[in-house]
Amino acid sequence: MEQLKVLFTEDEIRRKVVEIAHEIRRDYQGKRPLLVGILKGSFVFMADLMRALRLHVEIEFVQLSSYGRGRKESTGKIRMVRRLTTPIRGKDVLVVEDIADSGHTLKFVLDYLERKKPSSLKLCVLVDKVFRREVDLPIDYVGFRIEKGFVVGYGIDYDERFRYLKDICIVDEES
Ligand code: PRP
Repeated sequence: MEQLKVLFTEDEIRRKVVEIAHEIRRDYQGKRPLLVGILKGSFVFMADLMRALRLHVEIEFVQLSSYGRGRKESTGKIRMVRRLTTPIRGKDVLVVEDIADSGHTLKFVLDYLERKKPSSLKLCVLVDKVFRREVDLPIDYVGFRIEKGFVVGYGIDYDERFRYLKDICIVDEES
């Protein structure tokens, strides 16, 4: 049975999202970025970030999957479940992701998007599990860096559970 411990409260998340939005707004003045959210985990962050931005943005989603049921680690085999539905050539693309772990998912998605020749390509991640990184990842905007643990909530799941939580919590497993 898992125990959940709050790591970042709803309020802390709200403030962090506004902070990131300020940085992005400053960097994209006069531009109309295309936010590309990575389903499913990023949809909550994407919705809040988009509204905090106060910029004219377009949105798109891709879906990748690498975690099997009941797993806390990537299987390493990434599948693209949903592709872009519009061309991104010449656009200022900002990838929006809930969490970077090994980095394989984001590396895969950045390579995929790069091949489509956007005018610029940046990456925004809410929770960065830097200690787990296996590949180099150029993250332009980071919310929280964490040092250990498996997190859920605010869109992030464990075996499809806990996405609905308003806080971001650490899963403590007890047998
Ligand atoms: C999670 C998360 C990232 C990825 C990070 O997605 O949303 O996309 O894992 O792992 P990595 O850095 O080791 O590649 P998941 O596969 O659980 O799918 P979901 O977003 O649908 O929950």
